[in-house]
Amino acid sequence: MQLPDLVRRSIQSRGEAAGFAPLARAARLLSDAYRDHRPQDLAQIPAGDRTAAYLVTRMPATYAAAFHVLAEVRRRLGEPLPASVLDIGAGTGAASLAARAWFPDAALTMLERDRDFARAAEEWLPDAARLSGDLGRMDLPPHDLVIAAYSIGEMDPGPLWRLWEAARVALVLIEPGTPRGFAAIAAMRTALLERGAAMLAPCPGSGPCPIQSPDWCHFAARVERSSLHRRLKDADLNFEDEKFSYVALGRHPVSLPPARIIRRPEHHPGLIRIVQCTPSGIESRNVTRRAPAAFRLARHAAWGDEGLGR
Ligand SMILES: C[S@@+](CC[C@H](N)C(=O)[O-])C[C@H]1O[C@@H](n2cnc3c(N)ncnc32)[C@H](O)[C@@H]1O
Repeated sequence: MQLPDLVRRSIQSRGEAAGFAPLARAARLLSDAYRDHRPQDLAQIPAGDRTAAYLVTRMPATYAAAFHVLAEVRRRLGEPLPASVLDIGAGTGAASLAARAWFPDAALTMLERDRDFARAAEEWLPDAARLSGDLGRMDLPPHDLVIAAYSIGEMDPGPLWRLWEAARVALVLIEPGTPRGFAAIAAMRTALLERGAAMLAPCPGSGPCPIQSPDWCHFAARVERSSLHRRLKDADLNFEDEKFSYVALGRHPVSLPPARIIRRPEHHPGLIRIVQCTPSGIESRNVTRRAPAAFRLARHAAWGDEGLGR
């Protein structure tokens, strides 16, 4: 999964222009602030270095997560596609770029309070409308699709209902794929379903979530690491798996899959083990060649895909 070429090239040159030592320091502080859930610490990093570090170390991954999620949202919604998208806490534009890929004709609006992040986003999304400032001090214009990717967890409590009210067709919430990120997603899922929202993804139904702590529902998107990113992380691998949790809810019911694969399928000789969430709970299926149709499906099935029916 890769950002568009133009964006990758620009990230590379911004990262190089920042200088390795300031960039490495900013990347470390950024990672600490997100790990410790202290977004207020980000203000200690000089704005230019903070933006360059976000672009190099985080944006490819948050783009990959949003790309994966919006592919599923598009599949579930079908036609007509959303004509407008509001990206809340748009940052450097990762989710808006993913929305552009899946809903190319939709008018984009990016809401962001960090001016330096917003300026970076403007380079690759020059035609998007901008709402600059704090969400708490802004009216939210209605849009077909409202997305909050890796942002609602940073916000003071309360924006959920405002986001839902602004969503004419659907609301998409993405958080880090950690127990804490999932707990936030699960709580928002329950609250919105109680308010009459319809499930779009990832769940195969609208019943109570069967996943109990210490387990958590999350998915993974594989992201190529640039050489600069590898050097910053002192990492050998040229890819990473970005873990994310999400929920997408709509105004109207859509057709849901029979199940959702919630672990990486295990491949053994002649047997594929699939763990999937179904409307009646979590199910572990051993699929063998004795069920050729199911085996064919299972061979190509990936974590996060639609699961197998009965
Ligand atoms: C972790 S970044 C995610 C950026 C982008 N959505 C992505 O997926 O890469 C969170 C963003 O939310 C923005 N943000 C947090 N609280 C906000 C608020 N109250 N109003 C506007 N933006 C906010 C931050 O400035 C930051 O750019």
